[in-house]
Amino acid sequence: MNDSQSLSAPVLSAAAVCKSYRMGSGSLEVLRNVDIELHTGEVTALMGSSGSGKSTLLQLLGLMDHLDSGTIALRGRPIHALGAGAAAKVRAQKLGFVFQQFQLIHELSALENVLLPRRIARGMSWFANRQKERRRGAEVLREVGLADRAKHRPNQLSGGEQQRVAIARALISAPPVLLADEPTGNLDRQTGAEVLELLLRLARERGTAMLLATHDERIAEACDRILYLEDGKLV
Ligand SMILES: Nc1ncnc2c1ncn2[C@@H]1O[C@H](COP(=O)(O)OP(=O)(O)OP(=O)(O)O)[C@@H](O)[C@H]1O
Ligand SMILES: [Mg+2]
Repeated sequence: MNDSQSLSAPVLSAAAVCKSYRMGSGSLEVLRNVDIELHTGEVTALMGSSGSGKSTLLQLLGLMDHLDSGTIALRGRPIHALGAGAAAKVRAQKLGFVFQQFQLIHELSALENVLLPRRIARGMSWFANRQKERRRGAEVLREVGLADRAKHRPNQLSGGEQQRVAIARALISAPPVLLADEPTGNLDRQTGAEVLELLLRLARERGTAMLLATHDERIAEACDRILYLEDGKLV
């Protein structure tokens, strides 16, 4: 990252984010006044012990859950209180997700999984453009090395291949932000290293801001900076 990028406005930011889970009559406080800024062209590792709240933070930033208080903004525009429809569009157009468990849809082929965010983002106009969209999907599958697996369903793919499909799906809309939750956590060491290298290369080629939760020091060291969640705070 150069100086002009670090001084530029963050693409995704959160301020004073608090999140507790209600459990029976009590509540479990997970995030206490968390502030974070993600910048274009910067890959940030998110570390912290199991249960420290990494996935919780990624889910809030990804508009998959609601915060108790605080703000989340995309290029300065608050997005944390959007209705379900508007939040789904922001997710499909502006945010890419890669999960530990891949989270592919088992009834759909690799190509159809990759195209899903585009279908959500384009709504009815998707059908008029579907030939072009399919070519775009095939191109992204080629970029992740799966040109010859487009018709395979997830259960006809290896774990590493499934995660490559998930990466293609995350990148198809060229989102400015990628959120990755232990993306290599379910892969063997060699496959995990290859998938990480691919993810970092594609994010860096595109200048995508990425937040990557991991327990692996070596993975964190391959990122541009490391943040730690401790006692509900980022340090
Ligand atoms: N839906 C929920 N309801 C109640 N408690 C929850 C819920 N989701 C998470 N928690 C709790 O919140 C804490 C933070 O969970 P989270 O999944 O964010 O941790 P994490 O840092 O991602 O851990 P890991 O490294 O094991 O993935 C944990 O103690 C967990 O038990
Ligand atoms: Mg987690």
